[in-house]
Amino acid sequence: MTIPVIAIDGPSASGKGTVAQRVADKLGFHYLDSGALYRIVAYAGKQYNIAWNQGETLAEMAAKLEIRFEDGQIYLNGNIITEEVRSEEISRGASEVAVHPAVRTALLALQHSFRQAPGLVADGRDMATVVFPDAIAKVYLTASAEVRAERRYKQLKEKEIHANLQDILQDLRNRDTRDQQRATAPLQKTDDAMLLVTDQLSIDQAVEKVLQHYRQAS
Ligand code: C5P
Repeated sequence: MTIPVIAIDGPSASGKGTVAQRVADKLGFHYLDSGALYRIVAYAGKQYNIAWNQGETLAEMAAKLEIRFEDGQIYLNGNIITEEVRSEEISRGASEVAVHPAVRTALLALQHSFRQAPGLVADGRDMATVVFPDAIAKVYLTASAEVRAERRYKQLKEKEIHANLQDILQDLRNRDTRDQQRATAPLQKTDDAMLLVTDQLSIDQAVEKVLQHYRQAS
């Protein structure tokens, strides 16, 4: 029997991570935050002085990294780097390293290894198109750039991190463009994916819609 995968793709700050994690919890499935892997590559590149435009060298480095997700923490070579990889600088770096085909290939086997019984919820940009094209349920989760920027702004404010709404909006738009227009594995909705626009939806409502879609598909 094939292990079911729910693939959730969408742009930055669409809320797909939170929704994917909750869906996984409700179903007792494993969860893959594939964006974290690109963040880790950007972070490690910076640590080892490998520029984010050096695709081949970054890919060689990526293949040797010891990456672990445990109890909500991200471990790189035994060190916790959960907070570090969420910085605005590493967010930008992640979308820069993600344009390289060699980096994407280097991360493929690791992503596949998350597919374990009883099932997996995977979120990212190319879950439905490249990594798990045979996913039983596919969701394209998005919201307008303005709504996403507002949400990110509120999160930062709550953490008492200084933030400027216009800068966040501009940064999100730049990242959207890079993710959608790159040659390899660009962010796109597949024909068989359910479109979920969350501008007017709460997280609980979005979770319920994904669960309904999964139940119908399985
Ligand atoms: O989802 P998150 O914002 O953590 O992803 C960080 C960056 O990693 C994205 O902007 C995107 O460029 C890249 N990414 C990707 N493919 C994925 C997940 C993330 O290219 N499956």
